[in-house]
Formats: sequence, structure tokens, C-alpha cells
Amino acid sequence: MRSFSSGFLWGAAGSAHQTEGNNVASDLWALENRPGGPFPERSGDACDGYHRWREDLDIVRGLGLNAYRFSIEWARVEPVEGHVSNAELAHYRRIIEGCFDRGLTPVVTLHHFTAPLWFQQRGGWTDPEAVGRFRRYVRAVLPILDGVEWVCTINEPNMLSMAANMMKEGEERRELVAGALPPPDPAVADALAAAHRAAREELAAVDGVKSGWTVANQNFEAADGADAERDAWAWSREDRFLDEASSDDFIGVQAYTRVRIGPHGALPVPEGARRTLTQWEFYPEAIGDAVRYTAARIPGVPILVTENGVATDDDAERIEYTTGALAGLHDAIADGIDVRGYLHWSLLDNYEWGSWRPTFGLVAVDRRTFARTVKPSAHRLGEVAATGTLNG
Ligand code: NOJ
Repeated sequence: MRSFSSGFLWGAAGSAHQTEGNNVASDLWALENRPGGPFPERSGDACDGYHRWREDLDIVRGLGLNAYRFSIEWARVEPVEGHVSNAELAHYRRIIEGCFDRGLTPVVTLHHFTAPLWFQQRGGWTDPEAVGRFRRYVRAVLPILDGVEWVCTINEPNMLSMAANMMKEGEERRELVAGALPPPDPAVADALAAAHRAAREELAAVDGVKSGWTVANQNFEAADGADAERDAWAWSREDRFLDEASSDDFIGVQAYTRVRIGPHGALPVPEGARRTLTQWEFYPEAIGDAVRYTAARIPGVPILVTENGVATDDDAERIEYTTGALAGLHDAIADGIDVRGYLHWSLLDNYEWGSWRPTFGLVAVDRRTFARTVKPSAHRLGEVAATGTLNG
């Protein structure tokens, strides 16, 4: 039996574009709906989370969890450059208060991959005005953050800097979508780091806010003696984003699997290895490894696991994965690593950036009626949260 401390945050996560539906002023919506565009499926109504958030918060509470991660959608708050929607700000404030009313700790992300279409059309992150535009949005959001303790500025800047070129027009973008993610665009990486610092400066004005960002930890492992190649991959794709967080209030760690690096780059998942619906290797040890790696790289920065989970349509497999993940996490904590909470990805079977097929949810969503069905894995996680103990 493994025990967790009583103040530990136990929650589930999601993001605006993946759950709300009809994020019509966003860059991703435009991409999804472009004839001949790169995405096989579109987000559409998503999980209708924009209207059903109360039901979703009730589910989280009912399971015995005590935290909920969601994102505020910049494209809704500022659908036209310089025009902030007070109605949308009030909407997100209601969700924050809905968390408080249910005794849930909200973990609020300000940017989860999507941006307003106008932002993209003005050059995206590499435009000289980009950081100032993000700062202005963050400033507009400050008044609704009263009482919020955990704020993630930008989700997975490392993935975003790799995917940024997908947003561009033309053939270059198509090739990128078809193949593996390219190395990060250094100009995008620099802009995201500057935007993060600007957001943290703004957030310092809100009493009690802890701010940080969330990094995709990919657990790069050297294969065939490719240590130098592994280090180079890790530096550009992960480490520089971790180092940027070395004096932040916390670091959000997100991990799902591991990636082996050979002399010529990333290797395919080995023949015969167990895979998930995203085709990643089934590797529950990922989160334990990731928090150890992060703690060694940026010692002293408190860790919040802001994402971990598995895409599967076999819920018993989700239970197996989560149990293994929590065992590894517990053992890292027992070895002295400062982890404040675990937020499972995801609460709902939501839109996985181009496809509805990889189901990560603790809760199934009927694609036509939007009815929610809580899976056994959700109850299992709720039991661990309520008792603070993991058996098995
Ligand atoms: C990382 C992203 O933050 C989230 O949006 C995505 O759905 C999950 N990982 C799974 O791929």
C-alpha cells in the first residue's frame, strides 16, 4: 500500500478547444474547417463543455477529486484584436466560482495551443508584437483570477514551438503534418519564453497566485550509444523550456510515454511493444521518470503533474496504466521529490487535435447527445484521492 499526503491535489484536466465546442474565432477552427486541410476530423461541438461545465464539475466533485484543470480561451476573450468580451470573462469567472463552490481547486491555463485567428494572421508568435499581445490578454484576464492559486501561463511551449509551422499556409505546412514533428522553431521558442515571463509579471499583481508553465516531458532515452544525440534532442525539445522555469513558483509536468533516440534521431516504437491508441508505447513509468528528471534539472521548483493518462478504449487498461503511473509517482515522492498534485488527462473523451479516435477520458461522451458516462477508471482514481492510498 502506498500513501499520499493529505494536502495532495487530485484532479482531472481538459482544455477549452478540446471540450467546449464551436471555438469559431480561433486559429485551429480555421485550420480544421479549411477544405482539404490537414485534420481528418474537426472539433465541431466538441463535448459541448461550454454549456455543460456545471455537470462536469459535479462529476469531478462526485468522484472525490479535489482539483480541476481547464483553460481560458483567448479566442473567446478577445475574438477581435483589442476588443475584450466581458461576457466571456464572466463565463470563465463562473467556472472558477463553480470550482470554489464545490470545494475544487481550479488550475487555470491561459493558453492551451489555440490563439485567436487574428493573432495568427498577424504573424503568430514570431511577429514582433506577439508578446505584447499576449501580455494584454493576460492583463484582461487578471480580474477574474481572484482567489485562484494555480495558473499555467502556456501549455507545452515545447510542443507548440514544434507545431507552430503547422499553422502556416501552403505546402510547407502539409509536409510537417504528414511527418513527425520538426525540431522547434527557435524564434517561436524565444517568443514563448518572453510571453511566459510577461505573463508572470502580470500575474504577480494577483494575491496568492502561483504561476508557472507546463512542459511535455518526453523521457528521451539514448539507444545504441547515442548519448550526444539524445542530449541534443532533449536540449532543443525540452530542457531549454524546463530551464526557463527554474525560478518559477511551480513547474507543470506532463508525461505519457518514452522516446528512444538513436544516432539519426527518434526511433520508432520497437516491434512488438504494447501501444496505445495514439500509437505511443504503453509506458506507465513515464510520469515517475519525468518528475525525477525535472527535479534533477531544476531542483527546488515544486512540481504539479498537470497531465498524465492513456488513450485506450479498454478502460481496464486505463486502470492498469494509472495504477502503475501513481506507483511510480509515489515512489519518486518517497525519494524526496516535491510533487504537489496529480491531474489526470483527461476528464472527458475529448478532441485530440485532429481526431476523436484516441479516447483519453475518465468519462465517455456520447458524440450526438453529449451525455456523460463515468468509467470505472474514474471511480478508481476517486477512491485513491479520497483515501490517499494506492493499493496494487
Ligand atoms: C498534451 C496536450 O496538452 C493535450 O492537449 C493533449 O490532448 C494531450 N497531451 C494528449 O496528447
